[in-house]
Order: sequence, then structure tokens, then C-alpha cells
Amino acid sequence: MAMFFITCASGFEKEAKREILGLLDSNAKVSILFMKGLLLLESEHEDALQILEAANTVYLSHIYPVQQRLEITKSKDNAEKIAEAVEKLNDISESETFAIDCERRGMHDFSSRDVISAVADRIDSKVDLDKPATTVVIQIVQDVCFVGICKSKDIIIKVITAGNKYEERPLNRAEFKLREALEEFGVELKPEWRALDIGAAPGGWTKVLAEQVKEVVAVDPGELADEVKILKNVKHIKKRIENAGRIGKFDIIVDDMNLEPAESAHIMCDLAKLLKGHSFAIMTIKFVTRNRNKHIEGATGILSKCYEIKAIQRMRHNKFETTMFMVKRGNEDD
Ligand SMILES: C[S@@+](CC[C@H](N)C(=O)[O-])C[C@H]1O[C@@H](n2cnc3c(N)ncnc32)[C@H](O)[C@@H]1O
Repeated sequence: MAMFFITCASGFEKEAKREILGLLDSNAKVSILFMKGLLLLESEHEDALQILEAANTVYLSHIYPVQQRLEITKSKDNAEKIAEAVEKLNDISESETFAIDCERRGMHDFSSRDVISAVADRIDSKVDLDKPATTVVIQIVQDVCFVGICKSKDIIIKVITAGNKYEERPLNRAEFKLREALEEFGVELKPEWRALDIGAAPGGWTKVLAEQVKEVVAVDPGELADEVKILKNVKHIKKRIENAGRIGKFDIIVDDMNLEPAESAHIMCDLAKLLKGHSFAIMTIKFVTRNRNKHIEGATGILSKCYEIKAIQRMRHNKFETTMFMVKRGNEDD
């Protein structure tokens, strides 16, 4: 039974599943994984990969042959566990070049880089990042990890020609940033939540939040775009956050203020008391100078008093900042 990890248009997993079953019919089992845009295909069809590659598909994006599914936890030693699994599969001959393609989704105490270096330590062949003959595939989805070793040419990249919900009229690039961050950090917004968006204008993030939560309080002295203003569950406080007054309690705070990172971090710490216990916060750290590490370390030092920093990651949609994912320390009223 061959196994493939497949990415598809986010929000269109059922359509993508139907598309695959239409091509491979009874020879396939497709499971929708618990994060958006991810599927697992198991098939006895010998030519499954070739059929999917040749077909004019609409929803499929990447198809990775994998060989093993591993249960993992968030703890740091799982990087080694994954490396051990790869080592057991390892059939890369010493004369072949290889690269490691690792994608991590969810919250872990290890990074993709930790996994890549643990795996690389166990493979003797030569690395070639441009044209590797073989690719080690590692796809982590919170507490499961799919690993495989395949010829690089067997990783199929298709173009989604319909249905990418993210491509439906974005308000601005910022909208992509938040969608990407929520997905990357594995945050599922809940319909009963109240969200606080600081530095909200013109409203890309507010729009994303308003699609899924009960109420968004958007704080910014700037104007919101008309399409955001009219949303019934958005309340705009047209002030700086420091002057916003009493605004209640929240289940999530997001901060995209164009401020010096330390200043933004101090504001986030003051606001932690508005978050319910163990709730999430997302903040962008703007690289206002070239000394990126200084900005990250400065903000981290301030924020870690009030939040547990879970991840810091550069998003595809913005090179001039990084995004921090945190959980409020302690209980509601701490
Ligand atoms: C990069 S823009 C935010 C884009 C927004 N996230 C979106 O999705 O459209 C930064 C915003 O931060 C706001 N800002 C800066 N300092 C602020 C403060 N102290 N309180 C509230 N908003 C602030 C600015 O007015 C500006 O609109």
C-alpha cells in the first residue's frame, strides 16, 4: 500500500478528496487531516502517482510519497525520534545526493531546523539543495509526522486552478500574513470568541478574525476599509490602544502595530490582563533596523514575563518582520 501526503486548496479538502477518488476510485482511501489543506492518500494502485500527476486537477497542490506515520509529542526529543525513523528507512546510497524537505505545523518545543540537523547527522550521503537525487520528506502535523525517502522527481507539484479561498479578493497583503500565521501556529478560532486586534487599520486582520469569531474589537487611530466597517461583528475604536479605555476581556489578541518592537511588547504585556487564562496572542515584530536579533531578543525579554513564547516565525508574506505566537501565562486575572 503506497502512502502520499497531499496538500490542497485550503478550505477545499472535501472537494480535493472527491477529485482524488474520482481518479483512483475504489483503489484509494483518502483521509482529511485535522489542519486545513492537508490530506493523506493510501492506495494500492501501482500508478497512483502517475495518474494524479497526469490528470488536470483543480484542487491539488503538492504530492509527497511517504512511507511511515509516526506518533509524536511536542517535546524536544521528538526531533531525534523522527531522525531515528528516517535512519531506519534510509536507502540513500552514498553516491546519491540528498536534501531534506521538512515542514512543521503546530506547536512543538523543537523547530524544523532541529529536525533537519538531527536527520542530516544520520545520513552519510552528500547534500545538494539545488538538484538532489533523493529527498527526505518530513511532514509534521501537530502530533503526527509522516516521513518518507523518495526520488526528488517523484514529488509532484501541481497548480491549484480553482478554489483557493485565500485568493478571493484579499483586502491587503496583511490578510495573508494572519491567515498564514493561524495555520502555521495551528490556531483554530472559535465562533464564541471575542478578539482584540490592535494596529488594525485598514482591516485585513480584522476581516480574517471577523469571518470566524463572535466579535472583533479593532483598535487603530486610522480608518478601516469600507468592506470591514460594514461587518456587524466589528467594533472600531478609532484611538491608539493606550487611550482605548475599558474594552473587556478577550480570547485572543493580535498585534500588527507599526511600532518599535520593545514598545509594542510593553503594550502587549499591559494587555495580557485582558486575556482569559492560557489564551493566545500573536504579534508581529517589525524589523525597524537591520539588527533583527536585537529586536527579537528585546521583544522576547519583555514578553516572556507575561506570555509563554511558543514560536517565532518569518511568514512568507513579509520579509521585514517576524511573527511571534504566545500563550498568556497564568490565570485569567493574573
Ligand atoms: C501595518 S498596519 C496594520 C495592518 C493591519 N494589520 C491590517 O491587516 O490591515 C499598522 C497599524 O498600526 C497602527 N498603530 C500604530 N501604533 C498604534 C497604537 N499605539 N495603537 C493602535 N494602533 C497603532 C497604525 O495606525 C497602522 O494602521
